[in-house]
Amino acid sequence: MTDNAPQQNITNLEENKSTTTETAAAEAQVAEAAETIATTDTANTAAPADTAEQGAKSEHPEYRMRSYVLRTGRITNAQTRALEELSPKYMVDVSDLKLLDPTAIFGREAPLVVEIGFGMGKAFIEMAANDPDSNYLGIEVHAPGVGATMLLAEEQGLNNVKVIKHDAFDVLTKCLAPESLDVLQIFFPDPWPKARQHKRRLVNPQFLELVTPLLKHGGQIRMATDWQNYAEVMLECLTNAPGLKNTAPEGSDGFVPRPAWRPLTKFEQRGERLGHGIWDLVFIRD
Ligand SMILES: C[S@@+](CC[C@H](N)C(=O)[O-])C[C@H]1O[C@@H](n2cnc3c(N)ncnc32)[C@H](O)[C@@H]1O
Repeated sequence: MTDNAPQQNITNLEENKSTTTETAAAEAQVAEAAETIATTDTANTAAPADTAEQGAKSEHPEYRMRSYVLRTGRITNAQTRALEELSPKYMVDVSDLKLLDPTAIFGREAPLVVEIGFGMGKAFIEMAANDPDSNYLGIEVHAPGVGATMLLAEEQGLNNVKVIKHDAFDVLTKCLAPESLDVLQIFFPDPWPKARQHKRRLVNPQFLELVTPLLKHGGQIRMATDWQNYAEVMLECLTNAPGLKNTAPEGSDGFVPRPAWRPLTKFEQRGERLGHGIWDLVFIRD
């Protein structure tokens, strides 16, 4: 696999369009890749200001470098309605950034799975539906995705799902207690492919220093990506993080085979369409 630059992706997709059937799906892929470029470029120009402003406010400047760009527009009426009407049921308010009590939030004691960046929530909701004995707490900044996810939870009548619409760094640093998570999962985080963007990546040594203590002993940290360079960085960071042990077989390349419990995500499908490989990692806290 190669880390295709977004512009190359667009070019490939345009070529595909002319050589294969011109389907609506191909059009959508081009639009999506174009959106990636647009948001990435916005991120590049906005980065220094963000960094200076946020870094000044934080004791952990590196953590405060935004790992996302808020995309505007494209929210459906149903998602807007969900944000208004379903929030009382599914949304956890973290505006005061106080420590959360998961037992009180879910109304029961159960293993706690926290997912950062669930996107439009399809895979997150599928996992929660397949695992009713666990509590699923999702953290996402993208409002349409949060709305869509609450709609899916409501459609499926799930009572083991809660969402937080906020930057995960704040939630991880302020709202979650040490040794309170059974699982932390991050699937297909924004790859920030260019070298100058790498500092925006969610997963880095400081991030692992922050999240490892939040896991219970025996708890899992799960990651997946379709960007080879990011996969290698994730593996290196996880391997070097004190207190974490790889579940991949000794002598393997360090990645695990695609776990049966991980549903296909939207970004994974996109990666596959672009010819990327997929890398899964599962580590356990000692
Ligand atoms: C590339 S998308 C992947 C979405 C989904 N996991 C999937 O595979 O389809 C990454 C998501 O992470 C979210 N994200 C990035 N940084 C975040 C942060 N610091 N806090 C919360 N969400 C974040 C973005 O808004 C985006 O929806």
